[in-house]
Amino acid sequence: MASSSELLFYINGRKIVERDADPEEVLLGYLRRKVGLTGTKSGCGGGGCGACTVMVSRYDPNQEKVLHYAVTACLQPIVTLHGAAVVTVEGIGSTKTKLHPVQERLAKAHGSQCGFCSPGMVMSMYSLLRNQPQPSMEDIREALTGNLCRCTGYRPIIDGFKTFCGRQSPGCCQNGAVGGTCCRDNGPKDAQESDICNTIFFQDNLLPSDPSQDLIFPPELMMKAKRCCEEVLCFRGQRVTLLAPPDLPQLLKLKALHPDAPLMVGNTTLGPNVQVKGQHCPLLLYAGRVAELSKVQWGEKGLTIGAGCTLSRLKGEMEQAVQQRDEELSAGYKALLQTLQCLAGKQIRNMATIGGNIASGNPKYDLCSVLAALDCSLALSSEDGTRTVPLDESVFPEFGKTVLRPDEVLLSLHIPYSKPSEYIAAFRQAQRREFAFSLVNAGMKVCLRAGSPVVQSLRVFYGGVGPTLVRPAHTCQQLEGRAWGEELLSEACSSLTEEVKVPPSIPGGKAEYRKTLALSFFYKFYMLVTESMRQRGVSDVGVPAEQLSALTPFKNQLPQGTQSFQLVSPSQPLSDPVGRPNIHHSGLEQATGEAKYYDDLPPVQGELFLHMLTSSRAHANVINIDTSEALQMPGVVTFISAADVPGSNQRPWFNTVDEIFAEREVLCVGQIIGALVAESREQAKRAAAKIQVTYEDLQPVFFTIQDAIKHNSFFGPKRQLERGDVDTALQTAQHILEDEIYMGGQEHFYMETQGVIVVPRGEADEMDVYVGTQHAAFTQELVSQALGVGSNKITCHVKRLGGGFGGKVMKIATFSAITAVAAHKTGRAVRCCLDRGDDMLITSGRHPFLVKYKVGYNSDGTIVAADISYYSNGGCTLDESEFIMSKALLHMDNAYRIPHLRGRGLVCRTHLPSYTAFRGFGGPQGLMAMESVLYEVSVRCGLAPEKVRELNMYQDDLCYTHHKQAFSPKDLRRCWDQCLQRAQYEERLRDVQLFNSQNRWKKRGISVLPQKFGVGFSKGFYNQGAALVNVYKDGSVLVSHGGTEMGQGIHTKALQVASRVLHVPMSNLFIKETCTGNVPNAAPSAASFGTDAVGMAVKDACEKLMRRLKPIMEKSPKSTWKQWVNDAYYQKISLSATGFYMGPATDVDWDKGEGDAYYYFTFGACCSEVEIDCLTGDHKTIRTDIVMDVGRSINPALDIGQVEGGFVQGLGLYTIEELHFSPDGTLLSRGPSQYKIPALCDVPAEFNVHLLADAQNPHAIYMSKGVGEVPVFFGSSVFFAVKSAIAAARLDRGLSAAFPLSSPATAQRIRMACEDQFTHMALSSTEKASWCIDV
Ligand SMILES: Cc1cc2nc3c(=O)[nH]c(=O)nc-3n(C[C@H](O)[C@H](O)[C@H](O)COP(=O)(O)OP(=O)(O)OC[C@H]3O[C@@H](n4cnc5c(N)ncnc54)[C@H](O)[C@@H]3O)c2cc1C
Ligand code: FES
Ligand code: FES
Repeated sequence: MASSSELLFYINGRKIVERDADPEEVLLGYLRRKVGLTGTKSGCGGGGCGACTVMVSRYDPNQEKVLHYAVTACLQPIVTLHGAAVVTVEGIGSTKTKLHPVQERLAKAHGSQCGFCSPGMVMSMYSLLRNQPQPSMEDIREALTGNLCRCTGYRPIIDGFKTFCGRQSPGCCQNGAVGGTCCRDNGPKDAQESDICNTIFFQDNLLPSDPSQDLIFPPELMMKAKRCCEEVLCFRGQRVTLLAPPDLPQLLKLKALHPDAPLMVGNTTLGPNVQVKGQHCPLLLYAGRVAELSKVQWGEKGLTIGAGCTLSRLKGEMEQAVQQRDEELSAGYKALLQTLQCLAGKQIRNMATIGGNIASGNPKYDLCSVLAALDCSLALSSEDGTRTVPLDESVFPEFGKTVLRPDEVLLSLHIPYSKPSEYIAAFRQAQRREFAFSLVNAGMKVCLRAGSPVVQSLRVFYGGVGPTLVRPAHTCQQLEGRAWGEELLSEACSSLTEEVKVPPSIPGGKAEYRKTLALSFFYKFYMLVTESMRQRGVSDVGVPAEQLSALTPFKNQLPQGTQSFQLVSPSQPLSDPVGRPNIHHSGLEQATGEAKYYDDLPPVQGELFLHMLTSSRAHANVINIDTSEALQMPGVVTFISAADVPGSNQRPWFNTVDEIFAEREVLCVGQIIGALVAESREQAKRAAAKIQVTYEDLQPVFFTIQDAIKHNSFFGPKRQLERGDVDTALQTAQHILEDEIYMGGQEHFYMETQGVIVVPRGEADEMDVYVGTQHAAFTQELVSQALGVGSNKITCHVKRLGGGFGGKVMKIATFSAITAVAAHKTGRAVRCCLDRGDDMLITSGRHPFLVKYKVGYNSDGTIVAADISYYSNGGCTLDESEFIMSKALLHMDNAYRIPHLRGRGLVCRTHLPSYTAFRGFGGPQGLMAMESVLYEVSVRCGLAPEKVRELNMYQDDLCYTHHKQAFSPKDLRRCWDQCLQRAQYEERLRDVQLFNSQNRWKKRGISVLPQKFGVGFSKGFYNQGAALVNVYKDGSVLVSHGGTEMGQGIHTKALQVASRVLHVPMSNLFIKETCTGNVPNAAPSAASFGTDAVGMAVKDACEKLMRRLKPIMEKSPKSTWKQWVNDAYYQKISLSATGFYMGPATDVDWDKGEGDAYYYFTFGACCSEVEIDCLTGDHKTIRTDIVMDVGRSINPALDIGQVEGGFVQGLGLYTIEELHFSPDGTLLSRGPSQYKIPALCDVPAEFNVHLLADAQNPHAIYMSKGVGEVPVFFGSSVFFAVKSAIAAARLDRGLSAAFPLSSPATAQRIRMACEDQFTHMALSSTEKASWCIDV
């Protein structure tokens, strides 16, 4: 065989020829490190986040056109790009030349907060436009299903992109998107109608779409594609060789020669296995060039499609077939299409092939069950010829295996037409409705005897209930010859209960739920067939009207809604930006990929890479670390551990100390015991995997709150707050309720993982630290302590963070210290960049809480007294847990005046990684407990929950919290009233009740919640801010302050403040970075207090400058700013000023249980309506309305962005996001495949946010209020709406509306709480699951 090893492709119009291309190199790393294009981001490395989306184009000589695809660069080996043109975010537009309209509209619509997801979003949209210049709303929705954003809540991204829409979807006028009033904005308005604005995205002067701006496909590649290349391409790397034959005969020959070499096509299964799980395949056969595998042939019997066709291609064929062919013929295709619509995201469907999906033999993949039900067959080819096998359970002898012989390849798949007597359906249920592997998938087909209801044959297949595809053959056989009806159903269910055995140890757990789904899917199928029989005239009996809704899956839509805020006074000069919805100060740079994050900095000469070595035991002594093999590996420079720390190995934090490296005893899986330093990140990772650690296990080992209580294992101090006399009051109450609620933890899942670059300056121990931290001063302090040098030698630089949410305060300081130790030891720059799995394993997140309460209440819903005990899982060290528990206790009253209220807080010490700060900082847990109390009381009293909430709400003009802090609840009540009004609550509640009375298997719930949230640090000394403002002779101004920009827009707000005080346009002002050399000892950017502190400090500095300039300005009032500045310079007046803000002296006396814990309170109210599917547990948020008091907003667009993003993060916390720990304390959910944050499909279909008008706050900068943390708790409105919906389902079945429901209200929990015969059958026939534990 002739072979060639030259790789030719284009990147952004530039020709690339690689003669030594490494098959292990993926496009993402190549772009970022070899080509220096860092706009494409890395969020997960496994195809699961979309941050690395780029467009790949190829010329197809058969279709004679160029095809464009969005793909994930992290799974695209460069050697598969031969003949392709790659376009990255840098290739479509820039701030320096010309923006692309997609980039501009994303930024102007406020769709970029931290900006880390923005290049990926832009490229998904751009690729869509290249294929469809006037896309529909559905096209846009589909294009973005594979892109995650942790900041924005997606709504503004969609608003920006839907301006490209040619065809609007029916149902909404869309005027909201073009500056008018949306038809949905029919809620009552504020009193001061005229100064309320419904537009935060101004669309004037938007760049028009201009196709001439697009890079043309390189003619050279077109010519080459037209010429047939008959050579086998051969790429040899150091560890892996890839052979890419041009046609089938050569592929089969190679397969015969190398039967063990896997076939690589889309690399979406092989890639994650290699990148994330570290698998190694020394020889790969790439089949992407083999035209025979991409053939599509429609014949008399159906479709024969090449195994190498992508899932997008298959979907396209199915769409056409469903549209063009007879309904009965295409019934199977319709079912397949339904599955394909929710399978992965667009980028993955563009890469993944049918053959790969089947040949992977993974039962959580969706296609096999439905294809098997459709009676498909597979053509398997080898040099010996082609054989055909039916696609059924016999193809998959065990997990990950198929009947393909090692020398065979899957050539094609035949998907037959359906027959008129056949009824077909496919089902899937996942943790998240879209972009998630299914937990259970199923395909079912029944063939009835002509014109009769008698079953001729039945095919049922399940994936996700065992290690392989499962066919309940006995059940199917038994039902043949039986009439389709109730009796058959009952027999089928009993038989399936027996036959489908879900092993308790099934990966992913949830055995009982999986079994319930298997039964429920069959029940849905039963109804579907029954109803279709009626429609086809085979039977007179259909499904009763109230059950029909079970057959309609939830429709995913693009979110719609309005955002309103109060305009600034007409007398405010136009040049004053305060109060106006300016776009994020680096929004355009973020959307063009120009914005730099720490890992985008180019390598420093001689730079090394560091990989952490972590404990695999939960509690043990480290006896020995054998690095001998690792140190021999190529590129390895050194290994470091506690012994290498020249200064202190301790991380002190208030009264607690963590070790930087574990010295002997490890306290959790994931604790850092050392670090491997090598020339490249791959070498460091591989070598670290070779280190052998010997442990001596220690006892006790436990992980759960329940076990910690048993072991009496708590961190001190135990906190308590009490108002009134709880014990006595409990005796006077008419009723007592004792109950508990469990709330699971949450992973930050910032899109940018944690990391740092430390550069020794080679002189006087100086080091520069480029780091993504929320707390630069603490990082600087810890690095200096670890090195044993003064803080004045260490300078931390923070340009921006790709999201923080509280997770980049503590551990990042440890990583920085470790990296600095490596830099110190080697004398070279060292970079550390955690991959997603390690980030999740090591850094931990929000604390799980167990709350036990005893509440005394009267029949009218009045809460007389409540005694609430909070137990948080703190993990193995205290970290921030004590302060988080304090905040939970300080927020426990929420908006309610409970006369006798006691809260006790205990932080459990367990053997899990230390839980840490997370947006809300205990508030979301503290508030949730009180809302649960009120909800449960309302259920017991038979009252509507909002009535009980109103009854107990703070009423007086001046009220006192349970910790005796005075406040006025006036704006709280205004938020509440306006929320009820705007949400049309009463009317919709009646609609919900009507809906529930008419639907058995779908139920709706609606819930409205108030919120009072304290702003500022209760550690009073942190309430300070500092700034430095330098004015240069050309009039430009450089602003520095202690806050860090992580998407919340702190820099934008600081510039708005500076612009107001200096009377200088924002374009003349600049913030470069947060730097400990400019502003020392700054507090962390946290506690919703960033703008309060920084804004005041910047104002102070600017006012000082203005005082100095005043005499000059008065002397020559007509001069320009630049002239005044120059005059000042020549008069030797300093043009540099520091600003300082000494914030309020907040404090709590925990002995007395009182104190002004917060400077002020932010208020709000939120109403959400949901619909649940009682048979699957799926849910959809139909509408959310939020009214939020942010005082006089400094920037309404940024504040609304915080509200929407925070809400969606809270929605994740309370309904979707679930961390799994193995029984030995190892975090199992370590990436986006296992841990689901909200995606586009989870955003409320209608999402309205209103900033409370006429709100004031005398305590903070320009009457504004902090808002960052507050909206997270509003996600619980969805939880309570879900709970009401479940209660409605239970009442239908004669069950109590009072039932336990832990948070998050996942599909599993919803389904199992909607108890029915199927849950009972599943529970009685399934062994208790042991796969993971609730911690
Ligand atoms: C983020 C993400 C989300 C996903 N979500 C879903 C989902 O929701 N539902 C779902 O069903 N799947 C999902 N997938 C899986 C995806 O569908 C499969 O990875 C894909 O279909 C595999 O095709 P491939 O071409 O990429 O295979 P590759 O990764 O290239 O190969 C996979 C395996 O198949 C073998 N193989 C491939 N083609 C052939 C052939 N023609 N003959 C013989 N052997 C062959 C290879 O030898 C290899 O062992 C997801 C994947 C990712 C990365
Ligand atoms: S980094 Fe590629 S999809 Fe996440
Ligand atoms: S803006 Fe989307 S992840 Fe931050």
